[in-house]
Parts: sequence; structure tokens; C-alpha cells
Amino acid sequence: MPAALAATGLQKRYGSAEALVGADLRVEEGQLLGLLGPNGAGKSTLVKIACGLVRPSAGGIEVLGVPAGSIEARRGIGYLAELFRFPGWLSADELLTLHQRLAGSDGAEAERAELLALVGLADARAVKVEAMSKGMQQRLGIAQALVGSPRLLLLDEPTSALDPVGRRIVRDLLQELRSRGVAVLLNSHLLSEVELVCDRVAIMLDGRIVEQGAPAELSRPRGVEIETASGTQVYEGAGRDDVPRIVAEQVHAGGQVYGVRVLSSTLEDTYLEAVSGG
Ligand SMILES: Nc1ncnc2c1ncn2[C@@H]1O[C@H](COP(=O)(O)OP(=O)(O)OP(=O)(O)O)[C@@H](O)[C@H]1O
Ligand SMILES: [Mg+2]
Repeated sequence: MPAALAATGLQKRYGSAEALVGADLRVEEGQLLGLLGPNGAGKSTLVKIACGLVRPSAGGIEVLGVPAGSIEARRGIGYLAELFRFPGWLSADELLTLHQRLAGSDGAEAERAELLALVGLADARAVKVEAMSKGMQQRLGIAQALVGSPRLLLLDEPTSALDPVGRRIVRDLLQELRSRGVAVLLNSHLLSEVELVCDRVAIMLDGRIVEQGAPAELSRPRGVEIETASGTQVYEGAGRDDVPRIVAEQVHAGGQVYGVRVLSSTLEDTYLEAVSGG
């Protein structure tokens, strides 16, 4: 089965600026991948190439088994840009109608109502974009990306303007999409959010992927701390599986164990380590 998205040796130069210098990334069908990285790392450039909005200098992206930018690839994706602006005079319902026409969706009224409900805007169908808060517009943007039931959703920082309740709505929505088998590439700076919803995390730095894995893999064990009558000791590099052996050794040597703690680094620790080059 082809990947939902497969970027290979992806390079992009803007004049003398190198935005991507050989990025490789796969998002499997139905997978939710969080793409992290500092400002200017190249995340949005990769997403724009996947949409066919930007042409790579070398390498390429396949979307659902076909070249990014082709009609077939475009039919399969939904996209919410990082900085988007919808016409202020359209109501939520009119905006979705416009995007149904653009996407060739025949979902009609039922699709619009379902999407507005999914993003918590069921009561706002007649509200004009210009009368919406930023967070409402962002949720409308996500509904727009879902028009036509795409199999791959590209969301470039979809929760940056959302309050905690709005983020929760989007998080639940992403989980719902996963259960429907939709693949998602989520660009975000919110590590805790990515850690909560994503199956996989990739970290981009200076135009390439420098680290990737499941959130739990990237939150590596840092050691086991053991508290005995003679004080606290840390076994560097040990993990949960080592605990029985460590405790047995302590007891065998006549020690009295008062407490054991498995120390693990958070995704934030791994991220900071990866982007600071150490
Ligand atoms: N149209 C453009 N013309 C020239 N340089 C560009 C253009 N678009 C992006 N760049 C440069 O390419 C690099 C990568 O930018 P990109 O927007 O992909 O980063 P990003 O990871 O999305 O950052 P952020 O987290 O701030 O959104 C940056 O150095 C940026 O200045
Ligand atoms: Mg960006």
C-alpha cells in the first residue's frame, strides 16, 4: 500500500536560502504524524510542496502513491494553510459551499452541517467570517480542509489561535479522523498536544528530519533512581525492565530499599536536545 505521504530527498532553495536540504518523511495511511521544529526549519515548505503550491528544487513528494501537485493527489488532500484569510463577507455555510465547489464535493447541505458540527460551529452556520473570532475562523478552516473527505489532511499549525476548549475540540476531532482512517500531517509548536494525539513525531531542523519515532520512543528513559537507607542513587541509562534486577541486587547486598523511580525524559527534553544540536 502506498504511503499517504512520502517525501524523498526533498530540497528547496529560495534564491540563496536553503529551506529544505534533503528531507525524507513518510506518513502512513491512517497515521497521525506531528511535525515539530523551530521557526524557519522548513515545515511549511514541505507541506506546500505536498499540496503542489511550491515546486521542489530536487527530490519529491508522492501523495497517496501519485506525484504531489497532480490532480489525483490534490483530490486526495485537505489543506489548512498556516496564514489563511477567508473572505469576510461569507458566512460559514457559504464558505463551505464555495469550497465544496472548488473541491468538486457533492456532499451538499448534509456535509456542511456535519463538518460545522465536528468543529463545534453548528450554531455559527450563518455567522460571517468577519464577525468570527480568530479561533472560530481557525475551526472553520479545519472544516474547510475536510470538505470532500480527503484521505490525507495537511494542517499547518491549526491550533495556534485556539483557546484550551478549542484545542480540545480539535484534539477530539483528530482522534475521530484517525478512527476513520484519515492520515494527518500536523505542523505544530505545541509539544504537549503532539505528544497527546500523534502516533508518530518527526523533528525538523535546518531543512532535514533529525529525529523521529513514536512519542513514547522519543521520551526516552534516562535512568532509574533508587532510594536506600544510605541515600539516593541513580542508575544512568537503566529503564523500567531493569528495576527488578536493581532492587534484587540492592537487597542481596543487604540494602533497604525505600523507593524506586523510573526517570524518563519528556518529548520536550528530546526536542530541545535535537534542536540545540546535542
Ligand atoms: N517564499 C519564500 N521566499 C524566500 N524564502 C522563503 C520563502 N518561504 C520560506 N522561505 C524561507 O525558507 C525557510 C523555511 O521556511 P518555512 O516557512 O518552511 O519554515 P517553518 O518551519 O514553517 O517555520 P515556522 O515555524 O516559523 O512556521 C525559512 O528560512 C524561510 O525564511
Ligand atoms: Mg511554518
